[in-house]
Amino acid sequence: MKFGTKAIHVGNEPDSSTGAVITPIYQTSTYAQEEPGKHKGYEYSRTQNPTRTALQTTLASLENAQHALCFSSGMAAEDAIIKLLKPGDEVICTNDLYGGSFRLFTKVFAKFGIKFHFIPLQEIDLVHIVLNSQTKMFWIETPTNPLLNIIDIQSIVEIAKQYNILTVVDNTFASPFLQNPLDLGADIVVHSATKYLAGHSDVVMGCLMTNNTDLYQQLAFLQNSCGAVPPPFDCFLVQRGIKTLHLRMAQHCKNAASIAKYLVNHPKVEQVYYPGLINHKNHEIAKKQMKDFGGMVSFSLKSDSLESAFNFMKNAKLFLLAESLGGVESLVGHPATMTHASIPREDRLKAGLKDTLIRLSVGIEDTDDLLETIDYALNKV
Ligand SMILES: Cc1ncc(COP(=O)(O)O)c(C=O)c1O
Repeated sequence: MKFGTKAIHVGNEPDSSTGAVITPIYQTSTYAQEEPGKHKGYEYSRTQNPTRTALQTTLASLENAQHALCFSSGMAAEDAIIKLLKPGDEVICTNDLYGGSFRLFTKVFAKFGIKFHFIPLQEIDLVHIVLNSQTKMFWIETPTNPLLNIIDIQSIVEIAKQYNILTVVDNTFASPFLQNPLDLGADIVVHSATKYLAGHSDVVMGCLMTNNTDLYQQLAFLQNSCGAVPPPFDCFLVQRGIKTLHLRMAQHCKNAASIAKYLVNHPKVEQVYYPGLINHKNHEIAKKQMKDFGGMVSFSLKSDSLESAFNFMKNAKLFLLAESLGGVESLVGHPATMTHASIPREDRLKAGLKDTLIRLSVGIEDTDDLLETIDYALNKV
């Protein structure tokens, strides 16, 4: 089956008891047993729930995985993955990564003795400077947030396999429609399903996928033991959102490419970050590992002041000023004061993340309306 067919059919079999075409929202905490231990595969909804099982089946198929697990947020999925490690283990991460991941690693797990190195993983040679016998995991985010750097997944996987290191890819920005890291050799894919997977800015959820049954069992154990599971209604919402993922992604990509092209030629714009641009420094790798270049565009302004950035955001009326991304509606964000505020300014600047950087989550509205809004807002800068 091709992607769009899987998104609609896999995990969406009619309900066996009624024939309902849509998987019911099994709003139950527990399940009657015929006699102790004799049940229909469900005992307690922290452990399993049929609405969640249906969604996990769909999610696994989208990433060409055997297994998927859902969590109550993207951060909860990340939390479970890091709990595979033990004190003394080390992780090599992308330096330009989601601020919440940085916070989880440095403020929560570092004090349990896990060490995190943050380096620009697009410069592969730098890996060897920090790689050592304690390195147990690579943590890749690609495209990165918010600078939209592209990390060569296959090249990292080659190093990882040589040294028996796990490779985890946060695939939130690409979505499984554009990029499938497991096919490139990664061990675990993680998503903030809050974003493109759900797609309608109405739910917070996380998920992970893997083809490694041993890892899956450890992660399922953590999911049940720590208990950060999503409610059945949210599983229903994400399952419903996924049915149009392929159509939404096509329009996100089309709109983002048009906006990036427009911004490149605008006299008030200093730099545009979009992996679809031929002069983007990782454009060739993006072409190799992604089907298209995604719906996120970042840019900075020539007049390097916070006031200019704020003026743009105030006047770009169709782009709501909000955290998050990946919904049908366009959003604008200011990483330095919003998503990445938890990263110290010095570290942010070192990663190339200027105070005037503006990030657009380009929605699926009509392209012309979005371009008109941007044109208007830039004239007000
Ligand atoms: C790339 C990326 N990974 C993970 C997360 C965390 O996901 P959640 O907000 O669903 O916990 C986010 C949230 O913005 C994100 O952008």
